[in-house]
Amino acid sequence: MSKKIYLYGNWKMNMTAAETKKFFDEFAGVYKPASDLEVGVFSPFTSLWALAEGAKKCGVVFGAQNAYYEAKGAFTGEVSIPMLAEIGVTHVILGHSERRHIFGEPDEMIAKKVKAVLDAGMIPVLCYGETLEEREGGNTFKVMERQLKSALEGLKPEEVAKIIYAYEPVWAIGTGKSATSEQAQEVCEWSRKLIGDPKVVILYGGSVKGSNAKELLSMKDIDGALVGGASLKPGSFLEIYTAYKN
Ligand code: 13P
Repeated sequence: MSKKIYLYGNWKMNMTAAETKKFFDEFAGVYKPASDLEVGVFSPFTSLWALAEGAKKCGVVFGAQNAYYEAKGAFTGEVSIPMLAEIGVTHVILGHSERRHIFGEPDEMIAKKVKAVLDAGMIPVLCYGETLEEREGGNTFKVMERQLKSALEGLKPEEVAKIIYAYEPVWAIGTGKSATSEQAQEVCEWSRKLIGDPKVVILYGGSVKGSNAKELLSMKDIDGALVGGASLKPGSFLEIYTAYKN
């Protein structure tokens, strides 16, 4: 039996509510559900209602790109996990490199968010990965070990198992220059050992598109893709799965 493929789209700060509706009108016409495919879409907060409606109609998973760990209170500009639950959100991306590097989110904050999302019965999509400088300095594994260990510290094995992991080398994000399938496989295999659970789901993210999907997704320890740019159009998004299958 072929492995199950997770095709998750991180829309980042793109797609208004109206654009989200349009996306799903088109997506509904081209998407063919398959038993070995799980599609997920992660939109900005303001588009979540439209996303929920479209995603439910098409039978795909949907989620947010961030959440704060406190349930409510004086945290101007933040959105809490119960607020997301009200819309039906089941998955939350946490620790994306843009949160870490542009907004300065430290490991400790990401760890608190992971725990809070798990406590709410939702699934964190935990991103981690090294910058070009860290890779060139020979620090790839040291950096990722710090990122992963701090996020998983104190969690029960069943919580660790519930998390979806996404290896995203920062130098491959939005650059058009994906990691080679060997580089991505090496890190995903190493991650699985560090996490200590052979069955966890590990995605690769960074310039995934139809033209490189087959080689990346065919690797043993890569269970799917977290896709940025190519997820903004139903055609280029779904092409990743069809390219892998063909
Ligand atoms: P791109 O696919 O645009 O490189 O973005 C990857 C990413 O950051 C997904 O979270």
